[in-house]
Amino acid sequence: MIRISVLCAILMFTGFTARSQAFNRFFPEKELITTGIYYYPEHWNENQWERDIKKISNMGFEFVHLAEFAWFKMEPIEGKYDFAWLDKVVNLCIKYNLKVVMCTPSATPPAWMRVNYPETYRMDGNYIRGENGTRGLGSITNPKYRMFVERIVTEIAKRYGQNEHVTGWQIDNEPPAIPDYSPSSQEAFRAWLKNKYKTVDALNLAWGAAFWSQWFNSFEEVIIPNTSLVGWWGNNPHALLDFKRYLADSQADFLDIQAGILRKYIFEDQYITTNYTAISPGADARRTKKLDFAAYTAYPNGGSDNIGEQGFRLGDSKPILFASEYYKSVGGVSGVMEIQPGPVNWGGYNPLLMPGTVRMWLYHTFAAGGKLACSYRFRQILYGSEQYHAGIMLTDGVTPSPGGEDYMQFMKEIKELRKQYKPGVKMPEKIAARSTAILWDLENYWTIDRQKQTWQWDAWNYPVKFMELTKSLGAPTDIISESADFSKYKFLIVPAYEMADSALVKKWEHYVTKGGHLIITCRTATKNRLGHFWEAEPAVPISGLIGAHIRATDMLSAYANGDVQMNSAHYKWNNWADLLEPGNNTEVLATYDNQFYKGKAAVVRHKVGKGTVTYIGVDTDDSKLEKDVLRNTYQGTGATTEDYPKGVYVYWRDGFNIAVNYSSENYTMNLPAKAKIHVGEKELKPAGVLVWSE
Ligand code: GAL
Repeated sequence: MIRISVLCAILMFTGFTARSQAFNRFFPEKELITTGIYYYPEHWNENQWERDIKKISNMGFEFVHLAEFAWFKMEPIEGKYDFAWLDKVVNLCIKYNLKVVMCTPSATPPAWMRVNYPETYRMDGNYIRGENGTRGLGSITNPKYRMFVERIVTEIAKRYGQNEHVTGWQIDNEPPAIPDYSPSSQEAFRAWLKNKYKTVDALNLAWGAAFWSQWFNSFEEVIIPNTSLVGWWGNNPHALLDFKRYLADSQADFLDIQAGILRKYIFEDQYITTNYTAISPGADARRTKKLDFAAYTAYPNGGSDNIGEQGFRLGDSKPILFASEYYKSVGGVSGVMEIQPGPVNWGGYNPLLMPGTVRMWLYHTFAAGGKLACSYRFRQILYGSEQYHAGIMLTDGVTPSPGGEDYMQFMKEIKELRKQYKPGVKMPEKIAARSTAILWDLENYWTIDRQKQTWQWDAWNYPVKFMELTKSLGAPTDIISESADFSKYKFLIVPAYEMADSALVKKWEHYVTKGGHLIITCRTATKNRLGHFWEAEPAVPISGLIGAHIRATDMLSAYANGDVQMNSAHYKWNNWADLLEPGNNTEVLATYDNQFYKGKAAVVRHKVGKGTVTYIGVDTDDSKLEKDVLRNTYQGTGATTEDYPKGVYVYWRDGFNIAVNYSSENYTMNLPAKAKIHVGEKELKPAGVLVWSE
C-alpha cells in the first residue's frame, strides 16, 4: 500500500514538474504574460513591411502572428510553394527583436482547389456546396482536402520548424466543427458509428430507432440526421447528439493530424495551439490529443446591452470570464489569441468603446492566468468584408487607434509588474478557502440545448451564471472536466449535468465522503450517456446522494410569479422547479411558497461522510436564491465571502490581486492598509483596472 502511494506521489510529482517545466519553456513565469499582434503582410505593399514591423516592435509588442489565411501566396499553383515573401517578413521580425507565431493556413484554401476539387468543400443541410471566398468551409473529413492540408503543413513546418525565433504554432483558425452533409462526411459518419456501436442493432437501440419507423437494416442505410430537411421537432435527439460528437471528434482529429506533422519537424521549445472561439458550441478542445494548450479568441462587444447604461461600450464580461478558465482545462494554461481591438464590423451596431475598455479586457485575461495576449489585427484593412473592423492602427497605417493606445499602456504596465514579480508566492489562505470548480462539458450543453423543455432555459449561460456567482463571492473558480482531480477543490458545482453514469456518481460520492462540498443543480443525472431516461424515478442515480427524490418538475410562463422561501426571504422563479421529497436525514433549505404544491422542498442539503451535498432544484432569472445558497454553503465551512457587484471581478495571480470593472458604476475596493497599489486606483471606474499586492 505504502509503496503504491509513494509511487503515485512520485509519478504525480514528476508529471506535474514535467508539465510546469514545459509551460515555463514556452512562457517563463517571470514574464507573466507575453503580448503579440496579427500582421497580414499579404494585405500591404511590400515597401511598408519594414515600417510596420518596426512600429510593432516600438509599440512594445513581443511577437507577430503570421500567415493564417495566406495559403494563396504559399502555394499559388497546385504543388508549387513559395515562402520567399514570408522569409522576408520573418527576417524583419528577427531584425526588430520580435518572435513569431506561425500559422497553418488550412482555413482558407486557394481558388485553384475549388475549381479543380470542389469535393474539398463542405455541404450544408440542403446539400449545397461551400465555395472559397470566406474561411472555414473545407470538408475536414474529405481525403483530398486532408491531403492538400497535410502537404502545405509539411512544407511550412520544414521551412520554419527549426527557426528559433518562431516560438509557437497556431493550427487553422477558430476551428468551427460545423455540420457537413457532403458524401465524404456521410461516409466518415458511418465509419464513426460502426466504430462506436459495432452492430447496427446496437445503433438502432441507442438511437431509439423504433420511434417513427427509423429502424436501419445496415450501416449503409444510415444518413446524417438533418434538421434542415426533417424539421426541428422531427429530429432524433440521440442521432443528433452523435452527429455533434462526430463533428467534434473530426475537428479534433483534423487539428491533431496537423499537430502530428508539425511535431515531426519543429523543435521542442515551439508550442502548438489553436484559437478556439470563446463561445465554442461545436468544437470541443478537450478532444484534441496533440495540442500543447488551447488558446481562445474574445470579442466581448458586438453592440449588446451588457451591464448598465454604458454597458454597450464596455462589452459582455461572460466570454472572457468563462473561456479563460475553460480552456485551461485542456492543457493547464491558456491565453487570448485574439482580443477585440475596438469596434468590430459584425455587431448589430458597433459603438466606440469606452476609453480603457480594451485595456480592461486585457487585464481580465491576464488576471485569469493568461500566458499570452494577442490581437486581431495590426492595421485596419482598407478593403474586403472586414473594412470597418478596427485595428491597432487607424486606416493611415501609422497612427495608433484608441485600442492601440490601450494596448501600449497595458504592455508598459506589464513590464513594470514583471519587476515586482516574486516567484513562489502562495495564494492567500482566505481566498484558497473558497476554491471552487464547476463541472461542465459540451455534451451536456448539446443535449440540453436540443430539448430545453422551456424556452426560458439558457443552455449556454446556465453554467456561466454559476461562475458569475462564485466570482462575486470572491471564489477562485476553475471549469473542469470529469477526469479532473476533484479533491483539489473545497467546493464542486455540478450545474445541470444531464448525462451521467454510475462511475461519475461514485466519483462525486467519493469527493463528498472525503470532505468536499458538492452543489448539484436541477436536471443533473436525469439521462444516461445515450441521452435516454432511466426506467425509474427522475435522476435516480443521485437520489441517495442528494438525500431526496424528485417527484415532478414544473415550469411557468414568464409572467407568472413562482415564489420560493428560504429562511424569511422570498425569491422569484419561473424557469424550472423540481418538487423534492427529502429523506429523514436531509435538511430542507428552501420550499415553494405558492402554486398548488406550496410547502414542497426546492433546495435540500444532505451530509455525507465528511462533506455535504446541496441540491438546488430551482432555476431563477435573477440568481438571488442560487447566490444565497452558495454563500450559505461557503460560510457553513468557515470560509468568508465577498460581495462584489455584477461586472466587478477580482482575481489573485502570481502574487498580484487584480480587479476589473465591466459595470457602468464606480466601485471602491476595500483594500487592507498594507496593500501596495501597482496599477490604477481604489475607486474602480467603469472600464477601470486595479492591481495591488498585500
Ligand atoms: C474572428 C476571426 C478573425 C476575424 C475577427 C473579426 O472571429 O478569427 O479572423 O475575422 O473574427 O472580428
